[in-house]
Amino acid sequence: MARGKVVGVVSPGGGSGATTVAVNVALWLSEGGLTAALVDADPGLGAVAALLGLSEDRSLPYLGHEATLRPVDQDLLDRHLQSYRRLAVLTGRSEPVGPIDGLPAVFGATAPILCQRFPLVIADIGAVTWGTPLALASQCHALVWVVDASSGGADRLDRCLSASVMNPLRAKPSLAVINKVGVGLPGGGEDWLAREYGLSLLGEVPHDLAAVRRGEERLLPPVLGGPLAEPLRGVAGRLAAAVGGRLPSHSELPAAGHRTLAPGSSRA
Ligand SMILES: Nc1ncnc2c1ncn2[C@@H]1O[C@H](COP(=O)(O)OP(=O)(O)OP(=O)(O)O)[C@@H](O)[C@H]1O
Ligand SMILES: [Mg+2]
Repeated sequence: MARGKVVGVVSPGGGSGATTVAVNVALWLSEGGLTAALVDADPGLGAVAALLGLSEDRSLPYLGHEATLRPVDQDLLDRHLQSYRRLAVLTGRSEPVGPIDGLPAVFGATAPILCQRFPLVIADIGAVTWGTPLALASQCHALVWVVDASSGGADRLDRCLSASVMNPLRAKPSLAVINKVGVGLPGGGEDWLAREYGLSLLGEVPHDLAAVRRGEERLLPPVLGGPLAEPLRGVAGRLAAAVGGRLPSHSELPAAGHRTLAPGSSRA
């Protein structure tokens, strides 16, 4: 019986910080004692393996290749899961070639098995600007939208969430992180996100390129130390509270497209 929940980390446009937030939040949750898994489900190039110094051969796409010959089960999953400290990690796509049509199906077969073992599965999906990431995000119990703090970021979020194709996603419990704060978004982000899109703000992460680069160079995500540690831990803590409080179990997950608008949303 599946007991965990899948939280998809998505963005309205590339480079917003989805991977940064997904990696750091998942890592901090596992450091805090939560049995968590991180899946790099970005249908573009995955970045998690490089950020954490993990292999790209054991990965979701390779698991998908093997799944053409046998069903996905715990054994197959175990052969592709890796560890970073206490965090279980399924790395992502390492080459920009080859078919990806099957990725949502592989993700759909893998997520319930992960949910049997991990109370929380963080899936880095990235920019939800075309069909494949939309199909992946539709399978998650909840979403964390990572919005970059520029006026361009606000505009991208508006255009993304206003599109009717997003209705299945708008029906899900949805939270938000404003990333790279300090580069221009006016104050009041929390009110704006709640009022316009029904998103609850998990936190704001300052723009600090040096802190991010230091983490990349040392394969030590910024949540483990430095000026971004506290804001990222705050985001992780509030996500854990939100997940514990009100997300449905995997078996209650509605099929994509069955609901239209989130109750808290004000936009039609
Ligand atoms: N808070 C931050 N301060 C400074 N730089 C940041 C911050 N968050 C992310 N970055 C940098 O911004 C770039 C994009 O971040 P990241 O890869 O996390 O975004 P993404 O949304 O996953 O992008 P993609 O669409 O390519 O998957 C990276 O170079 C990253 O180091
Ligand atoms: Mg990314």
